[in-house]
Amino acid sequence: METLTIEKQQAATVNDFLPLNGTDYVEFYVGNAKQAAHFYKTAFGFQSLAYAGPETGVRDRASYVLMQDKIRLVLTTPLHSDSPIAEHIKKHGDGVKVLAIWVDDAYDAFTQTTQRGAEAYQQPQTLTDEHGEVRTSGIKLYGDTVHLFVERKNYSGPFLPGYKKLESTYNPAPAGLLYVDHCVGNVGWNQMNHWVDFYADTMGFRNILTFDDKTISTEYSALMSKVMSNGNGYVKFPINEPAEGKKKSQIEEYLEFYEGEGVQHLALATKDIVHTVTELQSRGVEFLTVPTTYYDDLVDRVGHIDEDLEPLKKLGILVDRDEEGYLLQIFTKPLEDRPTVFFEIIQRKGARSFGAGNFKALFEAIEREQELRGNL
Ligand code: FE2
Repeated sequence: METLTIEKQQAATVNDFLPLNGTDYVEFYVGNAKQAAHFYKTAFGFQSLAYAGPETGVRDRASYVLMQDKIRLVLTTPLHSDSPIAEHIKKHGDGVKVLAIWVDDAYDAFTQTTQRGAEAYQQPQTLTDEHGEVRTSGIKLYGDTVHLFVERKNYSGPFLPGYKKLESTYNPAPAGLLYVDHCVGNVGWNQMNHWVDFYADTMGFRNILTFDDKTISTEYSALMSKVMSNGNGYVKFPINEPAEGKKKSQIEEYLEFYEGEGVQHLALATKDIVHTVTELQSRGVEFLTVPTTYYDDLVDRVGHIDEDLEPLKKLGILVDRDEEGYLLQIFTKPLEDRPTVFFEIIQRKGARSFGAGNFKALFEAIEREQELRGNL
């Protein structure tokens, strides 16, 4: 842990040129949005919120918007092979295209970031319907991923103009997922600091945690990671890059199968991880598991925790402590056949770190999966 440097988060950064309110939505480009929506509803307890497609006058795509508490997922599929969305899926498989951020002024967010060097993805525009107006703009991120800035203070509709409310008779119960805690990106060799600088220079983010390749290594493989946070800490984007090891790291496997840089995982917060993970497992969600020996000396490593050990052990939930408290976390297996995007389920009890004490056990679990795939 000596290689871990944590910096105290300052309350609110004075003169924050890019004030952010949180994650607005995460959009996946997928091969079959209708089926993906069914999966995320059934397996993870998301609720139907909105829809856009041919029935609403959109000719080239269909998008299903799902929500659970503050989390909004958009699942978009192309309707023709000549769509850029189809190109994205052909190259990357199902994956995250848009990390949308909720702002008070999308036009200003575009000006502030592009004048500091961010590359434009979408010029500022105002969308209107009978519910009011939404202003959006966008900048390019690593790989084919983008950030959209969404300003919705003058809007009362279900999602965005162009979407209609999606009513469904099929509404599996929510699983207790509350908000996006952080979104992690995988970038190529020696690219981590480039993207750290991108977030610092164009968006005013700060590097709040650094993990070097000695912190994050197993017998076989290694990676490096830096966590970037905006001024108020509402938006956090860790960036991973591969590091040299005896065998292929999980980041290299991702880069090979995603065919480029992209979002590795979304961490979704719950306030009762035992309940949430019990629900998810009963609905068929598959998680990475660590050997049960992980729990033998758990209390010695992390000290007293409020939870009973048995359910944690039964479900495979990991625990880590930092100087401010502890956290409980577990990671799903990839959400698609390519070994790319996955979810983390996290419950924070004071800790603001990311589970560095679990990295070794976790990465060994990932390597066992890589080995089964023939990719180690
Ligand atoms: Fe994470």
